[in-house]
Amino acid sequence: MCGIVGYIGKNNPVEFLLNSIEKLEYRGYDSSGIAVCNKNKINLLKKKGRISVLRNEVKKSQDFNSNFNLEINSGIAHTRWATHGEPSDVNAHPHMSQSGKFAVVHNGIIENYLELKKSLKRRNIKFLSQTDTEVICALIESLYDGQDFFKAVKDTVNLLEGSFALGILCADYPDKLIAVKKDSPIIIGFGEHENYIASDVSAFIDKTKKICRLGECEIAVFDKLDIKFYDFNGKEIKKEIISVDWNIGSSDKKGFEHFMLKEIMEQPEAIRNTIMPRIINNEIKIDNLDKFINSINKIYIVACGSAYHVGAAARYSFEKIAGITTIVDLASEFRYRTPAIDENTLVIITSQSGETADSLAALRESKRRGAKTLAVVNVVGSSIASEADFVIYTWAGLEIAVATTKAYSAQLSVMYLLIIFIAFKNNKITHDSVKKYIQNLIYLPELVTQMLELKSKIYEIAKKYNNSDNVLFIGRGVDYATCREASLKFKEISYSHSEAYAAGELKHGTISLIEPGSLVIAILTDKKLFEKTLSNIREVQARGAKVIGLVSESKAKIADLGLDEIIEIPATSVMMLPSITVIPLQLFAYYFALLKGRDIDKPRNLAKSVTVE
Ligand code: F6R
Repeated sequence: MCGIVGYIGKNNPVEFLLNSIEKLEYRGYDSSGIAVCNKNKINLLKKKGRISVLRNEVKKSQDFNSNFNLEINSGIAHTRWATHGEPSDVNAHPHMSQSGKFAVVHNGIIENYLELKKSLKRRNIKFLSQTDTEVICALIESLYDGQDFFKAVKDTVNLLEGSFALGILCADYPDKLIAVKKDSPIIIGFGEHENYIASDVSAFIDKTKKICRLGECEIAVFDKLDIKFYDFNGKEIKKEIISVDWNIGSSDKKGFEHFMLKEIMEQPEAIRNTIMPRIINNEIKIDNLDKFINSINKIYIVACGSAYHVGAAARYSFEKIAGITTIVDLASEFRYRTPAIDENTLVIITSQSGETADSLAALRESKRRGAKTLAVVNVVGSSIASEADFVIYTWAGLEIAVATTKAYSAQLSVMYLLIIFIAFKNNKITHDSVKKYIQNLIYLPELVTQMLELKSKIYEIAKKYNNSDNVLFIGRGVDYATCREASLKFKEISYSHSEAYAAGELKHGTISLIEPGSLVIAILTDKKLFEKTLSNIREVQARGAKVIGLVSESKAKIADLGLDEIIEIPATSVMMLPSITVIPLQLFAYYFALLKGRDIDKPRNLAKSVTVE
């Protein structure tokens, strides 16, 4: 987590740095800070709270409003998601060395910082914060010979264990900036008489499209406008500059009260943009996929959070339609087990950001074990996209709200494409069935639009049940997978407790939670499982629960159900039901949280890109 940016160039760096960390605020938002080098002095400002708090301080500060009339100016800035040390002014980045000569911004975790700190303290070095990052500044300063900035940084990074993307300033060299990467992302942008570093291209994509991704254990040294790259041994390396031509998408709310609602409403487009370029003449066409998945006999879908729920939903159809054994695993678990994978296993890593630390580690572990790796990623050029053997992008566009919605839907759509593709390739379905599935797929955005039209009805339901502080989501099969996503979304933004349960498991313990007035949300969309789930509904009703049902059935059958609220789900192939059912539940979570007055786009304690393990 955490967003870092850096600037070096002919202009005043302050406005660029503030604007850029605002674009990275999704990576963390408990505090922020900025440091600029001006005439051999580093000026620093950092504040607990949102970037708007920092902006106000910057406005008032003489140091940040003085003339930056050097030939070359430099600065770094940071938006934080706390790992070591509570969110506070003093723990905010940048951190400075004791003499004020070095300033550092850091994304990642230094695992051996306590050990290093102890040995630095023995040499009388004082620390102000509880962070691991302050140790980096102190080490650089202790290894600095008064002349060689690069050598001090290189020697320091060789002593660090853990993950780190760094931006470093030295007061002796106001026209220099150093960036370092190990296991946390850092991208370099090449502008007109100015250069940039950032955790993510969105921080500077409005300035330049010429970029270069710093590789593992690499150091970039910006000396005036020249950039040189080195490995951790100090050996110079050559890097290729690439030109990116994607449009990062809109970062304004377009009149919606929250990004989350805007992104919920953008789902038909996200699905359409993801599937349509891959359907040609009633066939699914993904260049080279055929060759790539030749000989696979098992699939692992590995991811975190909502992206993991995508796998949970897709698994049913990978097994049922494509007839291929499919295991779904949390990246944070998978990477520490000994998964039985080999060159005939396809490991699908699903990630919106493409930077989730555990998913990236799972990808690397899969490659190490010889599996074929396929990334389903939204952020172009992200670490997971760059390192996987094969990438399928979800064209959901920029997603800003911390709680994912449109990226989730786009990921599900890629899964449907893969299921149909693999099923046909393995002779499990005929060409005619492929055509039918494709027709359903093309019609999917329309069904999602119909669900979005239920907005006002869902608002009323959320209002009626807004006092519920414990919600149980139940379902079977793909409906159970949707329950898990719905429950995560609900608790994530409303801060009310909820749980998702396989309906058939209720009576093995969880049903003891039910008491008169408990709220249960039941999903019954798979006709084959309808009666079974209905029996489970009767069991909770018998104990006084109120039940909201999401049901795909005939009007007559629905009328007789005796539920407190009904949301009708239109019929489609079972495989695609999760895409439709999730929509009213996203809206329910949104309105429920809105009515509780929650910070919907930036829920407490969270960040959008989870780059720590
Ligand atoms: C929940 C949510 C998270 C992410 C998870 C993985 O609304 O957004 O659970 O799905 O942190 O993130 P990515 O997809 O970026 O790997």
